[in-house]
Amino acid sequence: MSPTSSAAIPQYLDKQRLQVDAELERILPGAGEYPPSIHQAMRHSVFAGGKRLRPILCLESGRLFNGDERSLRRLGCALELIHTYSLIHDDLPALDNDDLRRGKPSCHRVFGEATAILAGDALLTLAFEIISEPGAGIEERRLEVIHDLSHAIGTRAGMVGGQVVDLETAGHTTSAETLDYIHSAKTGSFIRAAVRSGALDAGANPEDLGRLSAYGGRIGLAFQIADDLLDVTSTREELGKSVGKDDQQHKATYPAIHGIEESRRIAVQLVHEACQALEPYGDRARRLQELAHFLIERTH
Ligand code: IPE
Ligand code: IPE
Ligand code: MG
Ligand code: MG
Ligand code: MG
Repeated sequence: MSPTSSAAIPQYLDKQRLQVDAELERILPGAGEYPPSIHQAMRHSVFAGGKRLRPILCLESGRLFNGDERSLRRLGCALELIHTYSLIHDDLPALDNDDLRRGKPSCHRVFGEATAILAGDALLTLAFEIISEPGAGIEERRLEVIHDLSHAIGTRAGMVGGQVVDLETAGHTTSAETLDYIHSAKTGSFIRAAVRSGALDAGANPEDLGRLSAYGGRIGLAFQIADDLLDVTSTREELGKSVGKDDQQHKATYPAIHGIEESRRIAVQLVHEACQALEPYGDRARRLQELAHFLIERTH
């Protein structure tokens, strides 16, 4: 039996988040650095809050293979920059048109649309500058990480592809199969890549990578199912972003297509399978298993 999310997980997450935030502070240009508007916009969105789950998944996955902490932390931060870019663009009027993100006004609400678009571009670009920085890690491994990650956030079953189909299916009848494409592409593939990147950076072998990929793909889809459920069941205060928007915009979501109970059941099943994939590691994979449970039990 895999463990459920333990009582110690909130403290663990807080500690990891603080370490990630301190590194992000070292990476992001200062608010006064020229040209200040773009740096302020980048900082506004990165430091608005955020659970830092993708960096934490990268760190834990790398720790499983005794990866170098600093190298994993920098890589994790790069993932957070990519994630924040995706949130800024997701909130734009042309996409989901959201005013609130991470409990703060979304980037375009504060800095205007042009700066928000550029802040997203800048975060994505900075991420690859960090991943490829000299001395960042073992070079061939980094090249593999860059290749893997680029694919995961691109158009072929990656984040951008998923976002396109998410937007194009809004208001239309969508099959369960297309819904799975959207969720696995827009969210799952990047979460899977976050898990894989830590393992790759730490030099995991192909068999290990296969297991981590199985884990990452399943928790990635489960994560977006949980996000859909929270849009229906949570509050604006708790989530720090608007709720009820998916229904308002007639988005293809798990609760809309499968219903709330069945969506929960599928998410639990995916987490179960994800944890099973890590069983060969025994207790060493306990954190990753606890994280998997946390992703679907979270309240924000
Ligand atoms: C929200 O991601 C966007 C999705 C991919 C569903 P998170 O729930 O990880 O957002 P933050 O980083 O904690 O704000
Ligand atoms: C966004 O999915 C996935 C991304 C690639 C950013 P959502 O549109 O459901 O994310 P939220 O609910 O706005 O955070
Ligand atoms: Mg969206
Ligand atoms: Mg959105
Ligand atoms: Mg959502």
